[in-house]
Amino acid sequence: MPVIGVLKETAAGETRVALVPYNVAQLVRDKHTVVVQAGAGVAAGSADKEYLKAGAKIVASASAVCKAAQLIVKVRPPTLAEVRHLKKGTALIGFLAPAANQALIKALSARGVTAYAMEYIPRISRAQGMDALTSMATVAGYRSVLLAAGTVGKMFPLLMTAAGTIPPATVLVLGVGVAGLQAIATAKRLGAKVEAFDPRPAVKDQVKSVGATFVEMVLPKEDVETSGGYAKEQSAAFLKAEQDAIAGVLPKVHAVITTAQIFGKKSPILITAAMVKAMQPGSVIVDLAAEGGGNCELTVAGKTVVRHGVTIIGAVNLPADLPVDASHTYSRNVFNLLKHMYPKADAPTDPEEEILKAARVTTPARSKGARP
Ligand code: NAI
Repeated sequence: MPVIGVLKETAAGETRVALVPYNVAQLVRDKHTVVVQAGAGVAAGSADKEYLKAGAKIVASASAVCKAAQLIVKVRPPTLAEVRHLKKGTALIGFLAPAANQALIKALSARGVTAYAMEYIPRISRAQGMDALTSMATVAGYRSVLLAAGTVGKMFPLLMTAAGTIPPATVLVLGVGVAGLQAIATAKRLGAKVEAFDPRPAVKDQVKSVGATFVEMVLPKEDVETSGGYAKEQSAAFLKAEQDAIAGVLPKVHAVITTAQIFGKKSPILITAAMVKAMQPGSVIVDLAAEGGGNCELTVAGKTVVRHGVTIIGAVNLPADLPVDASHTYSRNVFNLLKHMYPKADAPTDPEEEILKAARVTTPARSKGARP
């Protein structure tokens, strides 16, 4: 039965923690031992004394956690220096961004660490409870609208006042997956008029069901969806026609939230520099796809820039702005994965099982009988 270790995140600006006291208490009830680095949950609203109450042990340093634990849970990928703390045979769970972090994956393999990437948990029904991408996109979609509302110089709701009527703000959401749907719902709650577009045909009804208007576009007929229901990469002609249609809508819009992505590809450019120029000065674009290249040509990942009077927010790691709920949902996902790995503390699931196999990103030489 592995000892589970919770490390304090070290990435700049990271405030989340991988396991909160509520889930630690459940693990302890299930006969797991949990070791937490001092201060690991403070930025997420979970003090050391809450972990102690939940039955965890608190140790002072990351190296002490790694020494005591055989299974480490994290939010962000460890640095190469942190990998050196991990013992051979350790299992690691976290967002690892494997495609962008090949050197890290190699270092983990060489160290004999079995690493599970939360972003590779398959999006199948029985793994929904472990789907941290969905949890974090939900938080990011909500937060993106608050950022837009706090930046644009206009109120979102319609207001009738003695000094006249204030019309509602118009918000355009491009890409209506998990983050986009949450952005629509949040903008609606704030009273904005919301319009949205996504090339997948099924999305039109979802957009209407959350009270937004679907932007109709005349686009080349193309197979835009995979058999699994995900968006396929569109042709240059499709994207050009989409840009033209968006250009027709942008000048009347106060805030744009962009979330378009094709799994494993660079984000499509939906808003060109010329289109930004035609927007109202004082309007805002929150580009959630910033890290994947951005949906706006002028986006700078991790920065807020003002171009042609339009504020463009290259949003990265928005869940860290809301660490309490982001940690609670992420922790629940990690807990569900741990429960899946160890239905009973002393009875691990077969490492070749579908979900574990899909999420595993290292191939360390494993000794006979080693745990997943
Ligand atoms: P998702 O895969 O559920 O949704 C993406 C949507 O984009 C899909 O509905 C897809 O059909 C749509 N799309 C693809 N091509 C399009 C096009 N040409 N025009 C309009 N829509 C198009 O992804 P999810 O989980 O909602 O994430 C959305 C984005 O937000 C991703 O880029 C993700 O990396 C990012 N994200 C950013 C965070 C941050 O803090 N900045 C946090 C979490 C997610």
